[in-house]
Amino acid sequence: MDFLKQLYDWIDVRFGVREVVDEKRSGHLLPPNINAWYSLGSVLLVIFCLQIVTGLLLMLYYVPDIDKAFGSVAFIMDEIPLGRLIRLFHAVGSSMMLLVILLHMFSILFMGSYKAPRELHWLSGFFLLLLAMGISLTGYLLPWNQLSFWATTVATDCVSSIPFVGSDLVELLRGGKQVGFHTLGRFYTLHVGVLPATIAALIGTHLFLIRRTGVSTPPFGLEDTTNQWQGDKFVCKDHPDGIPFFPNFVLQDLISISLYLACLMMFVFFFPNMFIPSTSYMPANPLVTPSHIKPEWYFLANYQTLKLFPSEIVGLTVQACAMTFLALLPFIDRGTEKHPLKRPVFTMTAIGCILLWIGLTIWGLYS
Ligand code: HEM
Repeated sequence: MDFLKQLYDWIDVRFGVREVVDEKRSGHLLPPNINAWYSLGSVLLVIFCLQIVTGLLLMLYYVPDIDKAFGSVAFIMDEIPLGRLIRLFHAVGSSMMLLVILLHMFSILFMGSYKAPRELHWLSGFFLLLLAMGISLTGYLLPWNQLSFWATTVATDCVSSIPFVGSDLVELLRGGKQVGFHTLGRFYTLHVGVLPATIAALIGTHLFLIRRTGVSTPPFGLEDTTNQWQGDKFVCKDHPDGIPFFPNFVLQDLISISLYLACLMMFVFFFPNMFIPSTSYMPANPLVTPSHIKPEWYFLANYQTLKLFPSEIVGLTVQACAMTFLALLPFIDRGTEKHPLKRPVFTMTAIGCILLWIGLTIWGLYS
């Protein structure tokens, strides 16, 4: 213990750690009624870092070439020590990241934390959701197996129904008429370079905005007297009776992160085939179309919606309108009430939309 104290003193003299820790303890007080849902943002930060680390390790052996990609992934899985584990952490982690993003969004929806002055927190988060879907889509093609090849063919095909520019856009995305050599190169560049850098920059913006306004006060059991509008000015102060971020809320963050890691390991160790089905063990063959091509679970609702409409362009327009509405929600819903039970129309509509999305996903899976 003495040694640890000496080490801490040594670091403190050089870095002034005590000052920073004390400032965090007393200077950054969170709402006293803050709840566990507020730790999902930290869980997402950890997931993003884990995806970067496992992704970099996979890059040591992965070869982005249509003749070698499948073999290089098989080599990682079968020959490299811990290779199977790292690949599964990365593949399962991408699905889990989308799941946690959705939970983070739902909690913000029901607690009304997207409302003014947090419109840009929501908008930057919305773009993070789109980018997370993009990074998962581009990563899905990289193992170059039957499932990933045909799922990418179907997904990129949808773009062709956009009037006037559709076919040019598909060609730009694929680097040719069909999914092939150039598609793999483009998706690889997006997946390992462009998208992670853009996501990191956007996370930085998201955190900057949160630091500026402080986190919202949950609408349960306490009136927010510290963070308030005074005329058209928003006054953001620390909660005088609040709880310190460090160590109190950090403990909550650590509990949520541990729970997340336990779930991730449960899927990786006991149900890996849920994420890597049997068609993933066959190399891509552009001449043989598998009987059931399904996109990943997070695209199933979009995929099923497209099938419901007589023409793809109608299906795409409906989805584009729904997504635009979701992105602009804080600008449309200007009410100040945040408690879910005190705004029943919103709450019922939100629950209805979530159930519809779940229903379409299950329908897409079994259709
Ligand atoms: C990689 C994805 C994301 C990361 C790393 C992230 C991170 C965070 C963190 C650390 C917080 C502060 C603590 C908390 O309330 O949880 C937060 C808050 C927030 N996030 Fe995210 N987030 C992500 C995605 C999203 C998405 C998809 C949305 C919505 C479309 C969103 C909207 C918000 C809003 C409105 C807040 C403010 C909540 C409040 O003040 O109570 N975020 N986020």
